[in-house]
Amino acid sequence: MASRNILGIETSCDETSAAILRIDEGQPALRSLVILSQDIHRVFGGVVPELASREHLRTIGPVVERALAEAGIGLSQLDGIAVTAGPGLIGALLVGLMYAKGLAFGLEKPLLGVHHLEGHLFAPVLEDPTLEPPFVALLVSGGHTQLLDVEGWGRYRLLGETQDDAAGEAFDKVGTLLGLDYPAGAAVEKLAREGKPDRYDFPRPMIREGYAFSFSGLKTAVLRAVRASPDLEADRGDLARGFHDAIVEVLVEKTARAVADTGRTTAMIGGGVACNRTLAAALTERLRGTARVVVASPRLNTDNAAMIAAAGAWRLERGERSDLSLEPFDSAPLPGLIHGLGRGRPITLTSP
Ligand code: KG4
Ligand code: ZN
Repeated sequence: MASRNILGIETSCDETSAAILRIDEGQPALRSLVILSQDIHRVFGGVVPELASREHLRTIGPVVERALAEAGIGLSQLDGIAVTAGPGLIGALLVGLMYAKGLAFGLEKPLLGVHHLEGHLFAPVLEDPTLEPPFVALLVSGGHTQLLDVEGWGRYRLLGETQDDAAGEAFDKVGTLLGLDYPAGAAVEKLAREGKPDRYDFPRPMIREGYAFSFSGLKTAVLRAVRASPDLEADRGDLARGFHDAIVEVLVEKTARAVADTGRTTAMIGGGVACNRTLAAALTERLRGTARVVVASPRLNTDNAAMIAAAGAWRLERGERSDLSLEPFDSAPLPGLIHGLGRGRPITLTSP
């Protein structure tokens, strides 16, 4: 089998990213990855969609050129283009999508629209090409929290998802309450390490049964404790620790339940919150002797184009193609979702 170069493009939120993935005899090898994180949103305490689109527009060209240069190839050596089509901010997605369509049309190369969460699922493959389904996947990002049984690539059984806030969103909102900059996940984890474990006993929502998550009650409990604190500066570490212990315990418990119920021997954590080392260590400890825990490096877990190239390459290799009518979408189930939660049929990103 000949080797192929796939360009990945990701602009679903506030990272402008491009990557070159080389597929050799079916094995992926990352040749370059450029990620430009937009700093402009920091002062607003969250992503401002219009500003995100403008930043993507300004930087997408140079980011793609840099990825090509670092991989040591030119546009003519590309064999396919994979781009995030959603879910995400429509204006932001549109920039990457239009750029990818322009390239695909101009170069006469195949185009593939990728579901952002499928990208997160593929991230660990970039470092461990032996990772193969079946496995249980805990997808925890700023916008999503899902527990999946990955029966095969492209066959995803949704076990449960959040009823309200995403896990990363809970980290970010609690971070704001504690006076930390957005996005606050990493800072909350660090602050929690300095805090006392038994000072605050926050609720563990829905921990007893099922696979569904809910984090808004936990967030409100932290808000109340922050308001009741006579000296927030002195209590910040303990508050962070109380929150951190609660959310990690819920995520670990539900994932362990999914592993026990499915009998899978591998569990992966994906998405930005997978950068949390306390979470990975706690799950590894909980599943010791039952299942191995797979987590990609931090730069592959937060939003990046390498994971989009990996997911897209898998579909391109199977002959799937998107056509130039591909539109961005703000929300849609994973392609190949086996059991949705009554939210319509799985979306198809490719033409028949
Ligand atoms: O996957 P991602 O980069 O973007 C989305 O698709 O949403 O995830 C970003 C989220 C943010 O909410 C951020 O606070 C969180 O991942 N995050 C963390 C950590 N590092 C990033 N949350 C907890 N602990 C961390 N170490
Ligand atoms: Zn993401």
